[in-house]
Amino acid sequence: RSKITSNSESAARSPCGRCGHRYRFDSHAMTHVVTEACINCKYTDCVDVCPVDCFKEGPNFLTIDPDECIDCAVCIPECPVNAIFAEEDLPKDQLHMTEINADLARSPVFKTLTKSKPPLPEADEWADKTGKLPELKR
Ligand code: F3S
Repeated sequence: RSKITSNSESAARSPCGRCGHRYRFDSHAMTHVVTEACINCKYTDCVDVCPVDCFKEGPNFLTIDPDECIDCAVCIPECPVNAIFAEEDLPKDQLHMTEINADLARSPVFKTLTKSKPPLPEADEWADKTGKLPELKR
């Protein structure tokens, strides 16, 4: 029997982004994840290299659809603020973003983006800020 990937009760209750099972399992939990660094920046360099168009755009953040991501990792070096990580390499303070990416990928507000566009007007001012989660618009 597979192990649940997170100790957190809320994450353990969240459905698996890959198969829709009510729990996330180690065997198919792999994806790449956009972290808080993207919030209020949205440089969008990442989308031009994605071979499967797995990025979805919201008002001030891009999310990766875990059902589409093939773990190719080509987007990682494209992001000017190093917002993208393989799920297994996420910094400890960004682990919550796996669930947020999966949730937002299912939101009707977030639409597939396949071509880069200009960043948000204040992107450079937000680039070095941390703790941006309260700014996330859904
Ligand atoms: Fe966000 Fe970086 Fe892409 S800021 S939109 S993850 S290039």
